[in-house]
Amino acid sequence: MSEETIRLKTDSDGIDWEQVSEVLRKSGLSDAPAEVQKKAFTNSGLVAFLLDSDKIIGVARALTDHVSQGAIYNVALRDEYQGRGLGRKLIESLLERMQGQNVILYTHPQTVLMYEKFGFRRAKSAMEFFQIDEEHKAWLENEGFFLPEGFRFADEYKREDMKGPRWRK
Ligand SMILES: CC(C)(COP(=O)(O)OP(=O)(O)OC[C@H]1O[C@@H](n2cnc3c(N)ncnc32)[C@H](O)[C@@H]1OP(=O)(O)O)[C@@H](O)C(=O)NCCC(=O)NCCS
Repeated sequence: MSEETIRLKTDSDGIDWEQVSEVLRKSGLSDAPAEVQKKAFTNSGLVAFLLDSDKIIGVARALTDHVSQGAIYNVALRDEYQGRGLGRKLIESLLERMQGQNVILYTHPQTVLMYEKFGFRRAKSAMEFFQIDEEHKAWLENEGFFLPEGFRFADEYKREDMKGPRWRK
C-alpha cells in the first residue's frame, strides 16, 4: 500500500464487480451480489473507484440529472485504507462533478459528522420511502437511521401549514 500506487477511476470500464461487492459487503453497506452492484453502479450516472494497483479499495456512486439534483450512495473503503483522506477523495470526486446541483444522501449516524465537514446539513423535511425487507428495515431502525413514525420537531406543532391542506377546512 502506497500513495503512488493508488489511483482514482471515474468510469466503470473493466471494473471487477466481485471486488465492488466485497468492499460494500465488508464495510457493512450492502450485501448485494456482484451483478446487482454492476447494475446499480452502471445505471448511476457518476461513479468513483479507488484502486491500489489492480485491487479495488474504495467505491462510491451518485445518481444525478446532471443539471440540478444529485444523490450520493455507497461510499465505502476497505478497512485498512480508512482514515487517510481516501474517503474525502471519493466524495470530492462526486461533488466536483455535481457542482451547482443540490446533493442529498442518507448515511449511518456514525458518519453524520463527517458529511457535515463537506458542507452537508441535516434536512428537516427530507422523507424516505423504503421498499426493503423487514429485517433490513429493523436493522436501519436499530442503528438509528429513522425518526420515530409521525415525528414532529418542537417548532412544528404550532405550524398551521402542517395540519393538512387549507382547502379542506
Ligand atoms: C466513511 C468512510 C468512507 C470515510 O473514509 P475515510 O478515508 O476513512 O475518511 P477520510 O480520511 O477521507 O476523512 C475525511 C474527513 O472526514 C473525517 N471523518 C472520517 N470519518 C469520520 C466519522 N466517522 N465521523 C466524523 N468525521 C469523520 C476525517 O477526520 C476527515 O476530516 P478532515 O479532512 O477534516 O481531517 C470510510 O471510513 C468507510 O468506508 N467506512 C465504512 C462505510 C461507511 O460508513 N460509509 C459511509 C456511509 S454511506
